[in-house]
Amino acid sequence: MESSEIRKKFSDFFRERRHAVVPSSSLTPDDPSVLLTTAGMQQFKPYYVGKADPIRDFGSKNTASVQKCFRTSDIDEVGDKTHLTFFEMLGNFSFGGYFKKEAIRWAHDFVINELGIDRERVTVTVFGGDLSAGPGQVPIPFDKESFRIWHEEIGLPKEKIKKHGRADNFWGPTGNEGPCGPTTEIYVDGVEIWNLVFNEYYQNSDKSLRKLETPGVDTGMGLERLATMLRGVDNVFETDLFHPLVSKIQEVKSGLEDKVLRVLADHLRASIFLIADGVRPSNKEVGYILRRLLRRIMVYEIKYDIHAELFALAVDIVRETFGDAYPEVKNTKEIFAVMMEEKSKFEKALALGIKEIEKYDVITAKDAFYIYETFGLPWELLGELVPAKVRGLNKDNFDAEFKKHQEVSRAGSEKKFGGHGLILDTGELKASTSEEVEKVTRLHTATHLLQQALRNVLGLDVHQMGSDITAERTRFDFSFSRKLTDEEVKKIEDLVNEAIQKDLPVYYKELPIEEAKKTGALYFFKQKYPEKVKVYFMGDFSKEFCGGPHVANTFKIGKFKILKQEAVGSGVRRIRAVVILL
Ligand code: ALA
Repeated sequence: MESSEIRKKFSDFFRERRHAVVPSSSLTPDDPSVLLTTAGMQQFKPYYVGKADPIRDFGSKNTASVQKCFRTSDIDEVGDKTHLTFFEMLGNFSFGGYFKKEAIRWAHDFVINELGIDRERVTVTVFGGDLSAGPGQVPIPFDKESFRIWHEEIGLPKEKIKKHGRADNFWGPTGNEGPCGPTTEIYVDGVEIWNLVFNEYYQNSDKSLRKLETPGVDTGMGLERLATMLRGVDNVFETDLFHPLVSKIQEVKSGLEDKVLRVLADHLRASIFLIADGVRPSNKEVGYILRRLLRRIMVYEIKYDIHAELFALAVDIVRETFGDAYPEVKNTKEIFAVMMEEKSKFEKALALGIKEIEKYDVITAKDAFYIYETFGLPWELLGELVPAKVRGLNKDNFDAEFKKHQEVSRAGSEKKFGGHGLILDTGELKASTSEEVEKVTRLHTATHLLQQALRNVLGLDVHQMGSDITAERTRFDFSFSRKLTDEEVKKIEDLVNEAIQKDLPVYYKELPIEEAKKTGALYFFKQKYPEKVKVYFMGDFSKEFCGGPHVANTFKIGKFKILKQEAVGSGVRRIRAVVILL
């Protein structure tokens, strides 16, 4: 099925069910609490809360759209088989028109009858309730009604309906406040394709919830993922949405590795859509996001020796692929001019940066960060230009400088990087919504257990070298000189899970730093600590200097799983791990 046909089928299906089909809103929303449009429901926020009248504006309480979306939180993940910055989301919405019964029935009918997916391949999740509210959260009951509809009305066997907690099945508001509520998700062959949100609550900016007078429906189904599944291809870049662009890049430069190709294709397409919606490169907010995308493309052109003008070929291909659905991308002259202006700025900066580099015999991480900040030269490029001067420089020490800077500038620019606006950013932990906060908190406690387990299994030479926790996973770097055996990995995983099963209490003591050190607690040598520090204890299993947040008991973490280990430099290894609620 062509992607254009999927868009059409979706719109037709909901039009036939009395929905007004509404065009995509711009990627830069009116809503001042968010930088970019990250979901289809955003343009409809006023209708959920009775601030605007859908009958007056659309002639119906129900709408459907194919919405342009952009999620900055995924920028660094692009390069694998699924992650994208820009994507399209199919969605149907209701503001007091219908609720769970119809929403679930129609979604199921669409998947089975219109997309032709065998019933046997479908499983779903529903919200299992969350009565143990975390800080600033209120308890929310199990969504019995959705469970009942799936089981009794649709006829899905109980074992195909999984219950999940707040992290997976509760939609938090976009921005600081907004409609939110329990979700039910549809999976095909274990892959999530459709998220149905039942907006029963409104989250205020202080995180408290109030019941909405009229509950609403908000659904979202990513077109790219759906197309990947329907076409039976291995990854999103092989669908008709990306293939023309990817094959053109391959044609002008053969031998690029997949990751590079994918980053280029994603960033080119995304930049074009941003520019078409009026975004211009700059040093702040959404302009900065665009600048980051464009500069990464240009760095890759240099680094991988690509001589063709990627901007020129991309504007043509994106026009051909998307011009019918999104006429704004046909404005190729203007879009190309914006890209080329940024290119000439970057080239000038590059020339100045190269002059600057000549002044140094050795470039430290601090210098590299200064050069990056002032001249826009990323550290990877320094490695290409003057490898001898940057021998001691690696991504970790550059990132450490970057983090220091982020901490300083965080106060004023919390929303700079987050698609929904980061509401938590400790440098180590990043989260954009309350559900993400919950998830990173569980992962954070798990990371402490992991460090202790590593030391128990591999010895006391293991020290933390860095860590980075997002809602998806924890990434922990530590000193150790060889690959871990499968047995070691398993042992470490088991130790962490045992500590979780014991439901150890998590608590902290605030101590003057010297006293804190005497407790024997672990601390991160790269970090600067204040006079007084918190020492977090997880039963008697782990103690560590830390600012939190953590879950109250280890059992809340769920099951801990190590996904992979890799080397990130000599003597430093990295583990990626996740936690799953069963
Ligand atoms: N707003 C929901 C989502 O983006 C449907 O997943």
